Amino acid sequence: MKGVILHGGAGTRLRPLTYTDVKQLLPLAGKPVSEYILSNLIDLGIDEVNIVLGEVGHNEVQGYYGDGSKWGIHVSYTYQGKPLGIAHAIGMVRNFVKDDDFVVALGDNYFHNGFEVLSRDFEEQGKEAYIAITEVPNPRQFGVAELSGEKITKLVEKPKNPRSKFAITGVYFLRKSVFPFIDSLKPSSRGELEITEVFQKMIDAGMEIGYSVISGWWKDTGTPEEFLSCNRMALEGLVSKGVGKNGTYSKAYMGENVTIDSRSKISGPCYIGSGSRIVNSSIGPYTSIGRNCRLEDCNVENSVIMDDVSILIDQSLKVKDSIVGSASVIKSNGAGEKSLRVIIGRDSKIEV
Ligand code: DAU
Repeated sequence: MKGVILHGGAGTRLRPLTYTDVKQLLPLAGKPVSEYILSNLIDLGIDEVNIVLGEVGHNEVQGYYGDGSKWGIHVSYTYQGKPLGIAHAIGMVRNFVKDDDFVVALGDNYFHNGFEVLSRDFEEQGKEAYIAITEVPNPRQFGVAELSGEKITKLVEKPKNPRSKFAITGVYFLRKSVFPFIDSLKPSSRGELEITEVFQKMIDAGMEIGYSVISGWWKDTGTPEEFLSCNRMALEGLVSKGVGKNGTYSKAYMGENVTIDSRSKISGPCYIGSGSRIVNSSIGPYTSIGRNCRLEDCNVENSVIMDDVSILIDQSLKVKDSIVGSASVIKSNGAGEKSLRVIIGRDSKIEV
């Protein structure tokens, strides 16, 4: 089996972060979101992965994953450019796939328990396509699968009046038989070739779409709230050990050369990236800090702070539920607000 990771799209719901950064490379507990997907594929024994690139940041994506040798696999690339749809992106990888079965995963999804059960079901069921669905409180935001008995009867992309609570998650197990169905698609009202319509066409042609219902361990990182919730899951998944100059912290995971002074309190689960310096601060729980950050006199909880950020404020001002883009500076001017919530992009500067 081969693997495909979709790394295109526009990431509009995570702006301003995605004006400058590729959404799937945004870090969760020190690793890009899409690297968790790559690990899921490698865990299946897949050693050939194709990454579909979009217009924004394709050089950064290629720079990060290179030829895949860092992970002991072979990574190749397909340039999609404009986000013309998930099915369009899949249609572009047929020369990579050739006659093999393949698994496509959306690079902005996070699957806490990986794909192993799904892959086994796909092989055992022998159906032409296989998806994973899960009950969600907000089905309007997803592709939705309608079931009758044991079968999927209908798939609808982001229905206004959903007739099912089962969202289609971002992993699709496919065979080369999918390509003619993609070729027969027309763009939807939002101008995309929709993956849900591919599956619907397969059902209409008398094929059965296999599925598993997964529970509680899947997230689409598409919005700030979902991104922070994925960060919490990724942190829970980290090994509960911490090594810093000033001792070991419970459920804290750290890169090289992290400095933490004796006045600081680190409450795991949290991650602190290489070269970061924490002075007189309270960090965590559920906080990921990037590389080469400087945090002084601050109190950060349930947040993602990206690389090269400086936060130099007053401990009474808590940075909570926040996402701070790379190289941002937040510093106090002594005005004394009680709390702060920020979702800001690269190079932003805030004085409070
Ligand atoms: O997260 C699950 C949902 O993902 C499914 O329930 C929906 O059926 C499916 O259409 C998709 O909906 P989204 O609105 O979340 O799709 P989004 O545009 O955010 O794109 C998902 C991923 O695919 C993201 O990593 C970007 C990538 N992508 C997307 C498009 C439209 C591409 O690589 N190329 C594209 O043309």
